[in-house]
Amino acid sequence: MLKTVGLLLFSMWFPSVWCEAGIVPKPLSVIERRGTFRITPHTRLYAAEGLESEARLFMADIVPLLDHGIARSEQLRGADIVLRLDSALEAEEYLLQIAPGRMTLSGGTPCGVFYALQSLRQLIAEHGASIPALEIHDKPDMVYRGAMLDVSRHFFPVEEVKRFIDLLALHKLNRFHWHLTDDQGWRIEIRRYPRLTEIGSQRRETLVGVMREGKTMRFDHIPYGGYYTQDEVREIVSYAAARHIEVIPEIDMPGHGMGALAAYPWLGCTGGPYEVWTRWGVSEDLYCAGRETTFTFIEHVLSEILALFPSRQIHIGGDECPVTRWQDCPQCRRRMQTERLADETALRSYFVRRIQQWLQARGREIIGWDELLEGELSSEVTLMVWRDPAHAYEAIRRGCRVILSPKQYCYLDYSQTADPVRYEPPCHDTRYVPLRQVYRLEPFDRLRPEERSQVLGVQGNVWTEYMPGMECVEFMILPRLAALAEVGWACERKCYSDFMTRMPVLIALYEKLEYRYADYVFRGIE
Ligand code: ACM
Ligand code: ZN
Repeated sequence: MLKTVGLLLFSMWFPSVWCEAGIVPKPLSVIERRGTFRITPHTRLYAAEGLESEARLFMADIVPLLDHGIARSEQLRGADIVLRLDSALEAEEYLLQIAPGRMTLSGGTPCGVFYALQSLRQLIAEHGASIPALEIHDKPDMVYRGAMLDVSRHFFPVEEVKRFIDLLALHKLNRFHWHLTDDQGWRIEIRRYPRLTEIGSQRRETLVGVMREGKTMRFDHIPYGGYYTQDEVREIVSYAAARHIEVIPEIDMPGHGMGALAAYPWLGCTGGPYEVWTRWGVSEDLYCAGRETTFTFIEHVLSEILALFPSRQIHIGGDECPVTRWQDCPQCRRRMQTERLADETALRSYFVRRIQQWLQARGREIIGWDELLEGELSSEVTLMVWRDPAHAYEAIRRGCRVILSPKQYCYLDYSQTADPVRYEPPCHDTRYVPLRQVYRLEPFDRLRPEERSQVLGVQGNVWTEYMPGMECVEFMILPRLAALAEVGWACERKCYSDFMTRMPVLIALYEKLEYRYADYVFRGIE
């Protein structure tokens, strides 16, 4: 309150105008002042205690946008740019104050200062080294602002994953959901089970072109594989943490586990043999829910996962589980009898409950895809809604928290133009989610005011069946990631035409940083 009154008095005292700096996602307020701050080779940067990492990122991410370096100062006195903490601000909240003689970046925590840095990058992309005096006060609407990368269908080396994380940081996203295991490859080293990577991370070949059910499939006959060592995982987790991004691993179960089943066939109901999949789709083979060895295996795997990922939430998948194998499996049937489970949906709920309780005992929570709503579900589970947004209302009324990533708005692997064959690399060309559609997502639509706090936030998903490299990922997600970021950061004040007037600055930054993006979107092509 005091801060707001202070800001008001300040703006009454000095002539100023509210303005629209070209910043995406949209800041809470921007007030233009008189004059210009010029960054020169003599400009000195001072970082208060606790902001050493932000000072390093200033030098690494901001200075290269200029034609020259700047100096570091050990003292506040005489510094021109100051990074500081302000306990009156919330954790992610920041103030970026630019006056002719001084620039101050204040955050409630280092995270807030980091977001001020991201806004400054955009101001430099727009104005170069002579930045108009202004004051930005900003904070996000939603706590969870995420993006998921599937590294199973295609594998992305460490440097490319870092580039993806850089993109999240640029858009002030704070969660990296890392989809590490699936039918087409297991991608993380688990020391206790070396075959997961020796066998499970490799596939014989890969489908060529876009898969159409019922149509003849062609394969490339080229073995494909890859995985992250635990050292590499730690490197990525700490790279993300320095950018105030939490990494949430996903170990998908009880379906989408062919990487693991191929490595250890005793995990499946029939005992195999199984093969790492070479095509896309949904496998009928799941982890067997009847055998105790399955749960022992998963707990061992999760023990190593917990040691690598400090995130409070661990994603355990739970999507797309046809139950035919469980119906035919004597062990699964016995489990249903002894646990008095009415059907296979109840068996899946039993499976998830066991894993959830095991994780809860170790201080962690689970996130699962919205299929988990089909059975009994603890309100401790956070549902990630990917099918119909209506599942979010149901989850909320059952007491769960939700993250919205409905495919109709948030699947950034779907085509962004109605004419994908002309404009895009091969993708799911029958599904269409243009930029405008991502922006249309209304996270609080149809919710009662008291239910809003159960919506943690939003997430863009990047399934990579048709994305063999990071260039392709960039092209498919940009500029849609910007729309998604604005929905998460500024959902209460978003306006598409206003967003489009600010986008050119972010595009200028994409170009400076050599990110590929779908430029035709700005030529009126949707
Ligand atoms: C999903 O797209 N199967 C979560
Ligand atoms: Zn079974």
